[in-house]
Amino acid sequence: MSSIYGEFRTALDAVLQDMTGRISACNDAAKKQTGSAIYEHLIARVKSDDSMREKCRKRNLPETPASALREVRDAVGLRIVCRFVDDIFRNVEGIRRMDGVTVVEEKDYVRHAKPNGYRSYHMILDVEEPFADVDGQIPGHYFVEIQLRTIAMDSWASLEHEMKYKHDIKNPELIVRELKRCADELASCDLSMQTIRNLIRAEH
Ligand code: GTP
Ligand code: MG
Repeated sequence: MSSIYGEFRTALDAVLQDMTGRISACNDAAKKQTGSAIYEHLIARVKSDDSMREKCRKRNLPETPASALREVRDAVGLRIVCRFVDDIFRNVEGIRRMDGVTVVEEKDYVRHAKPNGYRSYHMILDVEEPFADVDGQIPGHYFVEIQLRTIAMDSWASLEHEMKYKHDIKNPELIVRELKRCADELASCDLSMQTIRNLIRAEH
């Protein structure tokens, strides 16, 4: 079967590479200025054909490039994993300042955790690129989803995600409650680590 992204499949790699380069340049600039990186690692992916088709089916969208690139907005996804909570917002500010980048949606699950304890900062960007998009316009416009989290938030999300797919849970209320407790304890550690860093920085 041909790609759901059609002729735009390679363009998505270019968008991904462009954004990865710009975010990493932002990190290098911060390192030069302050001596410390603003993220620990960065992961980037183009959503697989299977996952994109499944998402379109779930949303009752036809499996076309237009659905994949206009209706679904996370064909291109990046995750920025930071050491400290403050660094999340340093990256957010850097992204806001990028040329040709417009923030079209933001969800602050850092300050407003989801009821299950999930924390992360989500942004959907409209990124202008010098090549055509699915509407045929040049410059083209592509959506990019960015998730920003601390290492602690990332560990929790990764374990919770894995456990979601185990269907033989005997006591779901207990599991949900315990997962929420872990998320809150991790958030409390993140705050303490931030305070410790602020104290150390104030000494210099
Ligand atoms: P989609 O974009 O269709 O996924 O839905 P949405 O826009 O309603 O979701 P949202 O922006 O809240 O979350 C999108 C992504 O964040 C998901 O695909 C996950 O990667 C991540 N995410 C959101 N909530 C959770 C959660 O409770 N647990 C974990 N592990 N990840 C989550
Ligand atoms: Mg979303």
